Amino acid sequence: MPPTTDAPAGYAAYRQTVADSFGHWYSRGRDSWTGADTNDQVTRFVCAQAPAATGPGRRRILDVGCGRGHQSTELAERLDADSTGLDLLAVWDAPPPARGRARFRQGDFLDFAGTGLDLVVDNGCLHHQRRTDWPAWAAHGAHLLRPGGVLVVSVFLSPHGEISKLPLDDGRLNWWLTERAVTGLYTDAGLTPGDRLVIDRNFQYQGHWLAYLVLSFRKTGG
Ligand SMILES: C[S@@+](CC[C@H](N)C(=O)[O-])C[C@H]1O[C@@H](n2cnc3c(N)ncnc32)[C@H](O)[C@@H]1O
Repeated sequence: MPPTTDAPAGYAAYRQTVADSFGHWYSRGRDSWTGADTNDQVTRFVCAQAPAATGPGRRRILDVGCGRGHQSTELAERLDADSTGLDLLAVWDAPPPARGRARFRQGDFLDFAGTGLDLVVDNGCLHHQRRTDWPAWAAHGAHLLRPGGVLVVSVFLSPHGEISKLPLDDGRLNWWLTERAVTGLYTDAGLTPGDRLVIDRNFQYQGHWLAYLVLSFRKTGG
């Protein structure tokens, strides 16, 4: 992986921790999120939020932390879009889309260079990042969008209204986030809030029924 330029202290080490953790989960088939019905609900939400094309070419999508790439491919197909799946790990195994185009890149999101994207999708990636990196993460997503472009982010929703850190034994962080915190991050990055969706995970932990919070934001101006 290329080095992350101007990254805060410890970023590269934590990125390696995340890669090792997810590598372990994928290699043991523990990626229950791939192909889950909850992911299909996110896909439908993304399609509903997608901005219209501005020209004759296909809309361009970045799927941040795409994992096995099934959602990147699904989005390419449903939106007839040019979709790029990006992940720390080269674990993609989705069949090619019937229309549109899907391609995959291995690397870190903060190192991903580009501009003018129609859609940036972050389904389950932000909530594994260090809190100190959240503002740069949000700003980078906003930077990649064209004016009128849309960013969709899906996170673990805090069941008790507080931001909570639930680290795994291997050091990977899981954060439970609040709508206010996520909205604040992306509005501070210059984006305008759009729609929202709460998805039941049908999963109970320490007495809480857990859910995903999916939010869309639009880049105005330009
Ligand atoms: C919970 S999985 C979600 C995968 C996929 N979005 C899905 O819903 O099927 C999170 C993914 O984010 C990737 N990831 C975590 N941090 C990343 C980073 N800094 N840059 C790129 N990918 C990252 C992990 O390797 C993992 O595959």
